[in-house]
This record gives sequence, structure tokens and C-alpha cells, in this order.
Amino acid sequence: MLVQIPKILREDELATIHDRLEKAVWVDGRATTGHQSAKVKKNLQLAEDSTQARELGAIVMRALDRSAIFVSASLPRHVSPPMFNKYEAGMTFGAHVDNAIRQIGLSPARMRTDIAATLFLSKPDEYDGGELLIEDTYGAHSVKLPAGDMVLYPATSLHRVTPVTRGARIASFFWIQSLVAEDSERSLLFDLDRAIIDVGKSMPADSSVAVRLTATYHNLVRKWARP
Ligand code: NI
Repeated sequence: MLVQIPKILREDELATIHDRLEKAVWVDGRATTGHQSAKVKKNLQLAEDSTQARELGAIVMRALDRSAIFVSASLPRHVSPPMFNKYEAGMTFGAHVDNAIRQIGLSPARMRTDIAATLFLSKPDEYDGGELLIEDTYGAHSVKLPAGDMVLYPATSLHRVTPVTRGARIASFFWIQSLVAEDSERSLLFDLDRAIIDVGKSMPADSSVAVRLTATYHNLVRKWARP
């Protein structure tokens, strides 16, 4: 399931992030990558343990917390501390699959990466190229979103970032371990949740249909969730 969430960040948050990123120190992106990925990766990142990455990551985490769509689509158990990358002209990230298991920030705890997230921070007209290409059973999807918008996709998918040919593409990226590991189950729950919200708009919350659908949603979560 590929989910686009518009306007995860407010304008003032985007402005704060851009302001801080102007003074940021970028390092070689290969610092945090697995063996295969490192060979195809050419970009810049904020050091994971830098004050800047932590402060900007906190802004992103607060934005995720208030997004009902993010919570419904991902059913998060763990969210890795958001990281930040930058592709300048000539930079790219070839086809790869993200590591299945990651350390949660600098703590010894580990998480499984079920869902990958890219939160676009540059405006699409500020750079050429830099599309996120995600492959699933329906083919390849090209994603390039407005600043402040985010895409969620299964971390099982092969994906890449096409070469940037002009300007700079800055984004935040992170992973989610979901309470529901299986993408097809998460997808059904997300569809059902969205449908219940739509039904709720046209009938009273205590109608028996709304109550039964809501009960079914929670009972499916109970069945599939693995905390
Ligand atoms: Ni990746």
C-alpha cells in the first residue's frame, strides 16, 4: 500500500526546518547504510546523532502524532528517529531494499522496518529529477510531492531515487514498525477505517451500522496486531 499524506508539516514548521537546514552540516550518506545499498548511494545526510537532526526530528515526530491518517495507515509500534538527506546535482540512490532491522536511534533497542516514509522538504520546482521510484506488484510508481507532504510505502519494496540534475532535493526519511506487520492486512484496516469515517459523516455515531463496522475494525486489529 502506497499512501500519500498531504500537508503533514504546517507552513511554520517547514519554515523552521528550512531555516535550521541552511546552517546544517551535511555528511556522506553512506555512513548509515547496509553493504549493498552503500554501493548505489550517493547523497548527503545530517549526522544521526547531531543536535540539528534531533531537533528537526522532534518537529517531524510531533507532526506525525497529530496526523490521524498517519496513525491509521501505519498503526505505529515504533517510529525510527527521522533522518534528513540532500541530493545535489549528480546525486542519486540506485535500486535497493532497506535493511529489515534497524537500531532505534542510538539506543541498543532494535525495530523491524515494515513501512518506509519520505517527507518531502524541497518544493518540486526547486530541483529536476530526484523522483522516488517505488516498485510493487503493479509496477513502478514515481513520487515527487509538494514540500510538507509525505509518502508511506512498504519497506519490502525495491525503490530508488533518480539522479538530481538541477537544484537540491531535501527530504526527511524514517521507518515504522507497525503493530500489523503484513501490508495487505494494514491496507484492509486502513480502507475500513476511512470508510467508517465516511459513513459517520452521513449517519449518527450511535447508528447500529456505524457501531457494527467500528466493532469489526477493532476486532480485526485485535486479530492481526502483534505488539
Ligand atoms: Ni531506501
